[in-house]
Amino acid sequence: AGPTQEPIDPVRYISNRSSGKMGYAIAKCARRRAAEITLVSGPVNLQPPLGVELVPVTTASEMHQEVTTRVAETDLLVMSAAVADYRMAKPSDHKVKRKAEELSLELLPNPDILASVGTKPRRDDGRPIIVGFALETDRLLQSARDKLRRKGCDLLVANLAHQSIGLDESTAFIIDGTGVIDEPGQLPKAMLADRILD
Ligand code: CTP
Repeated sequence: AGPTQEPIDPVRYISNRSSGKMGYAIAKCARRRAAEITLVSGPVNLQPPLGVELVPVTTASEMHQEVTTRVAETDLLVMSAAVADYRMAKPSDHKVKRKAEELSLELLPNPDILASVGTKPRRDDGRPIIVGFALETDRLLQSARDKLRRKGCDLLVANLAHQSIGLDESTAFIIDGTGVIDEPGQLPKAMLADRILD
């Protein structure tokens, strides 16, 4: 759940507007359904639901590591995190000073956590059922279908960015390999969590 933060220097980072609300709502809802939950979470301002094991992380690399080490004992992986796609090639040890000239940052791609789990062969007994998310600003369903296939998801929750990120509610489409299987309309994230788990 939540965003990741990629340090630029000791006081700055690259991140995004994710609040973690969707992932925390799913954890709470699944806990209520008697699941044993490990919540790997980037930095958010939310209380973890009661009875959930919280694994706090900061960067995409840390999230990748924590997900990978747990995936073999996991029946269901829900990747609602807004993982930063890039990190600094060389984060600075010192605060970067302001100068008059332009400044460019050299970025390296982060690992795709979801795809690293989803593209494992299914007969490998380390592979859980996988629910991914897709956050788009346009061509929602087309991009979501591509992501479902490319990242090996069983189910994918497609959201338009301006209707979901950082908000208490979301307008989502739930899709599988056959197409849209649920279209709940605008719902509070707590209720959408139930629809996804159903
Ligand atoms: N995801 C991931 N690791 C990444 C990036 C994304 O595991 N480095 C996961 C997200 O948690 C989500 C899904 O992949 O479940 C899709 O994320 P999204 O941000 O919509 O897509 P990207 O893969 O980042 O592709 P793009 O930025 O091109 O839309």
